[in-house]
Amino acid sequence: MQKNLLSHKQSFYLTFANFAHCLLVLKALSFYLFQNQISHPYHAFTYPHMKRSKIAGIGYYVPERTVTNNELTGIMETTDEWIQERTGIQERHYGKKHLETTTSMGAIATRIACERAGIGLEEIDFIIFATLSPDYYFPGCGVLLQRELGITHREVGALDVRNQCSGFLYALSIADQFVKTGMYKNVLVVGSEMHSMGLDFSTRGRNVTVIFGDGAGAAVVQPTDDPQRGILTTKLHSNGTYAEKLAFINPGSHGGYHFKKLGEEVDFGYPPEDTYGEIFLTPKMKEEGLYYPNMEGQFVFKMAVQKFPEVIREALSEVGLTTADISMLIPHQANLRISQFVQKTLGLSDDQVWNNIQKYGNTTAASVPIALTEAWEAGKIKEGDLVCLAAFGSGFTWASALIRW
Ligand code: COA
Repeated sequence: MQKNLLSHKQSFYLTFANFAHCLLVLKALSFYLFQNQISHPYHAFTYPHMKRSKIAGIGYYVPERTVTNNELTGIMETTDEWIQERTGIQERHYGKKHLETTTSMGAIATRIACERAGIGLEEIDFIIFATLSPDYYFPGCGVLLQRELGITHREVGALDVRNQCSGFLYALSIADQFVKTGMYKNVLVVGSEMHSMGLDFSTRGRNVTVIFGDGAGAAVVQPTDDPQRGILTTKLHSNGTYAEKLAFINPGSHGGYHFKKLGEEVDFGYPPEDTYGEIFLTPKMKEEGLYYPNMEGQFVFKMAVQKFPEVIREALSEVGLTTADISMLIPHQANLRISQFVQKTLGLSDDQVWNNIQKYGNTTAASVPIALTEAWEAGKIKEGDLVCLAAFGSGFTWASALIRW
């Protein structure tokens, strides 16, 4: 057995010296970490070697065809008054069947965004595509967009995001992380939806169908050396408890599993146990229209008006700002009544909130980039402005972003 060579006194001094040494190292490290930081509180937790990312270019596209509420009254039992009163929507755009898709619309928005960012398409380093209405079940729209843009030769990564109404904000947050760490220089973020190809145009589907419209928006995210500019923070949240309250569940491979667990017996017309397959899409689903989106509108409404202000305040509080600092709030265009409720809750003026659902309906993942581009084109977003993006939707998932423009 080794003899203890140090007296109690000696080991006490040694421990103390080690502790003091650790303190000195920590102090030096914190000085190194924070010496380059400017005084704004939201810089306190960033690292000096990390870049800040900014939105360098934005663009949007909506199909040419406008469909008014009155046009819908010709195919289902609804009225212009009902739609406007409950949602604020007056018209929406529908893509050209067989000629336009979620991908092709995303490509048009991308070209505009890249041009405004001053980059060629071949300079895109990574693609993030958010949509709930993809051209194919798989592969995703990211790779289809790559082909559509003619940039497959670079073989850059393409990622699809399935976060419905908050999809663009989730995608933006991913882009932000890649750019901040220096992994990519030009990240393309796209939100695009071709809802009109998959809605129930009978009276049965009217509560959902009248709300949604087609369109696409895109943004190029790049690094910036300007410490005063760029994406200050993004906040992402989800809660799957109420996944079926706003959902498109068929076709799917769930086989009724989640409904059983929730104690709800729903007959999807599945074949006997001993058959192979035939779960994904059954004749009953087709006959009874069980392959359309469904929504418990009032439930969604109540959650939305709670989560929008919550996630906006969370972002503001992280960077030490308040609602009064917001130059422009771009809420996901779910329903004009939701946006108005959020505006009132946050005490914002009309000039601080951008609404365009009246013209486009709810374009899900595309709604934030469309509204952002429109507000910017209208001269309502200028350099130095604090722009707040926020979204809530199916999942439920919700998110916010604060950008110093
Ligand atoms: N035209 C006419 N009547 C309609 C209709 C339509 N397009 N859609 C539904 N109705 C009827 C219903 O059948 C119901 O009739 P009943 O009372 O005879 O049963 C009545 O209108 C009320 O339906 P309800 O669903 O309770 O209406 P609502 O006041 O909640 O408004 C929404 C419906 C969808 C507009 C509203 O709930 C909403 O906007 N929710 C949030 C949805 C949303 O934002 N989704 C996207 C989230 S990202």
